[in-house]
Amino acid sequence: MLKFRVKILAIVGLGVLLSSEAQAISLGEFEYQNSCVQCHGVLGKGDGPVSEFLSGAITADLSILQKRSGGIFPVAAVYSIIKGEDKIGAHGTRDMPMWGSRYRARVAADVDPGFSPEATEEYVKTRILSLIGYLSTLQVE
Ligand code: HEC
Repeated sequence: MLKFRVKILAIVGLGVLLSSEAQAISLGEFEYQNSCVQCHGVLGKGDGPVSEFLSGAITADLSILQKRSGGIFPVAAVYSIIKGEDKIGAHGTRDMPMWGSRYRARVAADVDPGFSPEATEEYVKTRILSLIGYLSTLQVE
């Protein structure tokens, strides 16, 4: 009986998850909520709950990226920062995780089935571009 209840709960839970995902939340927003919000905050202001534990670094305000670069969203620069190829941080250290290698590891571990190893770079690109799409909606004037 208990097993049966657990199964029912699992099915209901999955249904809620699927229907909430169906509410037009983009891949970028989904990923931001899962992977970035804890440091950068809901509106990208750098005030996520984890930010106070980072080694003295001020967690970057992601809502002023566009304003800071003269009103044009700096796609290429943000892309390589997220991917993790640019050294940021004045002392050569980096609190910000390197998402390129994380996404590559996801393909290798087959977390998102359907992506073959040959499609790894496409996968990385898709995830980063969808994040950039979402970040662009957080920009202030
Ligand atoms: C563990 C905390 C943490 C997480 C999680 C995190 N970041 Fe960061 N991020 C930082 C910190 C800290 C900086 C400031 C630079 C540094 O010290 O590495 C930063 C900097 C950045 C910058 C550069 C901002 C600028 O002013 O140039 C971008 C863009 C960025 N993060 C995007 C993201 C995205 C997108 C995600 C989610 C996929 C994410 N970050 C997840 C901590 C985090």
